[in-house]
Amino acid sequence: MNTMKNTEQFILPEMNRERNRSRRNTAADCSRFVMPAEAKNLGSGKKYYIRTYGCQANVRDGETMAGMLEQMGFTFTDSVEEADVLIFNTCAVRQAAEDRVFGEIGSLKSVKARHPEQVICLCGCMAQEEVVVEKIIRSYPQVDLVFGTHNLWNMPKLLARVMNKKERTIEVISEEGDLIEEMPVRRSTSSKGYVHIMYGCDKFCTYCIVPYTRGRERSRRQSDIIEEIRQLKAQGTKEAVLLGQNVNAYGKDLAMEDGFTSLLENCAKTGIERIRFYTSHPRDYSVTTIDAMKKYPNIMKSLHLPVQSGSDEILKRMNRGYTSGSYRDLYDEMRSRIPEITFTTDLIVGFPGETDAQFEETLDLVDYCQFDMAYAFVYSPRSGTPAARMEDDIPLAVKKERLQILNDRLSEIANRKNSLYLGRTLKVLCEGPSKKNENVYSGYSEENKLVNFTGPDGLKDQIVEVEITGTHSFSLDGKAL
Ligand code: SAH
Ligand code: SF4
Ligand code: F3S
Repeated sequence: MNTMKNTEQFILPEMNRERNRSRRNTAADCSRFVMPAEAKNLGSGKKYYIRTYGCQANVRDGETMAGMLEQMGFTFTDSVEEADVLIFNTCAVRQAAEDRVFGEIGSLKSVKARHPEQVICLCGCMAQEEVVVEKIIRSYPQVDLVFGTHNLWNMPKLLARVMNKKERTIEVISEEGDLIEEMPVRRSTSSKGYVHIMYGCDKFCTYCIVPYTRGRERSRRQSDIIEEIRQLKAQGTKEAVLLGQNVNAYGKDLAMEDGFTSLLENCAKTGIERIRFYTSHPRDYSVTTIDAMKKYPNIMKSLHLPVQSGSDEILKRMNRGYTSGSYRDLYDEMRSRIPEITFTTDLIVGFPGETDAQFEETLDLVDYCQFDMAYAFVYSPRSGTPAARMEDDIPLAVKKERLQILNDRLSEIANRKNSLYLGRTLKVLCEGPSKKNENVYSGYSEENKLVNFTGPDGLKDQIVEVEITGTHSFSLDGKAL
């Protein structure tokens, strides 16, 4: 039984507001985070657990929530049973991600029956969807608090309401509001630090839910970003990972000329040892960005450049704003300027109406680009997006078969590309013991290759020279020199 009062004063998501938002390219206002008085000691003697799904932007948001909770006096636990506050920081990009979360929340009914004071929260991208919140209200009474991506900073106040007044609280805002700076953070990794450079997405690819769940593009001030990187460097973090759904659009709203390149250069000048950035969009790619990558040794020469499809017709219906030919031109340009660059991408198979011939065009593009690695997905209709209104006419069996063919081709290429590293020495940022075997370290090379390697004690968070002794499709083996 849930002991919460249902006040019905819920603030519910409205995807239509996101859909019809103005596309004005002006800077968002900026405020500083303040911990509300009623939340200051809320967590004393209590524990929290956060489960994060989805992209690195969500991971960084989870780190902010952990920071806020610790400032409120909560301590971390990795036990679902033990947690007084349990947070599901969710992803809405594909249906499978959502189904997993509903499955997990469903299975918590019994935990909650044993532990009625436990507070269960749902936040992140799923919370921004009407269909999800309606389902939570209707069928998941064990969820006490729902808040969205735009009011994450308000979590302490909302949590205080739930815990002190015992009121079930749902507050999902569909307008972006101010950018909030100086939020606390508890980082989940010590070797690298995620840094939001911008929020939201204005691209509106027809299959994608992100512009609705994350709002319009808003860039953080350059000075705030540089300050965060300086702090990372001061605490000994070796790598800064710059995050945005479409980093090449950085600074448009701040009236910056060629904003991303200038930001990238200033990040490089902080002297932090490594800089990476996700995700680039082929449409806005500026040649000056390639030049900056070439010029600064601490900007890693690896690029994640999602292409999605090799068919012009499909790319057009996806609203990607480039053709297979212009993607190849960009790819060639980068390769000619930075020959050692490594490339990764994202691909979707089974988009509505995709013919066998159009799928073949994707295979052709993959053959042309010889990606070092790629994430391939089966198209998943997202309620409220334009593609969800197109006829989803490809049978599941065909989608799965295409995925299999594509993955086989991708891993064959990755295997061949990785075999070229045998006997070479790579600089690997050691993240600690590997997930599979605690006697082996793992980390990423400058080229963004996952390397599992042996070596003496004490290498965690260090950049280590590793000789490559074995290669696979998705990782390399080696030993520290
Ligand atoms: N902003 C990034 C990534 C967004 S989501 C970009 O534009 O590239 C990460 C990946 O998920 C996308 O690149 C796409 O390949 C995949 N994706 C997004 N929506 C999807 C959907 N409805 N079905 C299947 N895959 C999807
Ligand atoms: Fe989604 Fe396209 Fe924006 Fe990427 S660029 S987040 S795929 S709408
Ligand atoms: Fe998922 Fe939201 Fe990221 S939908 S991929 S968590 S922006």
